[in-house]
Amino acid sequence: EDVPVITIDGPTASGKGTLADEVGKALGFGVLDSGALYRVTGLAARRAGLNLDDGAAVAAIVPTLDLSFREGHVYLGTEDVSARLRAEATGLLASQVAVHPAVRQALHQLQLNFRQLPGLVADGRDMGTSIFPDADLKIFLTASAATRAERRYKQLISKGVSANIESLREDLEARDERDKNRSTSPLAPAQDAQLLDNSALTIEASVAQVLDWWQTRR
Ligand code: C5P
Repeated sequence: EDVPVITIDGPTASGKGTLADEVGKALGFGVLDSGALYRVTGLAARRAGLNLDDGAAVAAIVPTLDLSFREGHVYLGTEDVSARLRAEATGLLASQVAVHPAVRQALHQLQLNFRQLPGLVADGRDMGTSIFPDADLKIFLTASAATRAERRYKQLISKGVSANIESLREDLEARDERDKNRSTSPLAPAQDAQLLDNSALTIEASVAQVLDWWQTRR
């Protein structure tokens, strides 16, 4: 592949999405939010009344989804589901359907299709390990659970959504456990990934670090 790819993997609420968007903007690259694909699959499966433990049934709805992506919004048919996708409840649905190898397989090609010139920044859990193993630069982004819970809390409060910091932390730790312990494509740094802990970094400093690694890549 000649199309350059930067992968950003890491746990829930580590700031992958923001970092991917900013790096994409700086380099003029497209952005793949792979979590949105698992979220939309979880949401559609729930709406269809499927048993989320039935991997084959959930995987079977993937090719029937009328998905489109426009200006950072995700559409299911004509419905803009972006806000619904970001809800904590949808994140939990996503992590339930994401354990199934059949679901991951069903979403594989869809993710590869985002690799288009002039380049791609892909964020998720297994971008550097499974989907784009030949990526030009791989980042594994972390932050302490306390930092992540606090950021998510502020985000929700600023949107006028009430939230409880303790239960947010419990939810994200439960999601991390499921993501790390599943047998297919568990959350783990690629062996050639750059580790970045942004607990004490501003967004600008994290972006600058990634751009620096990009400029000095071999
Ligand atoms: O990144 P985000 O929080 O949107 O992802 C939601 C869930 O989707 C994650 O907790 C994880 O279970 C799953 N996921 C995944 N592989 C990815 C992206 C997301 O398993 N590449």
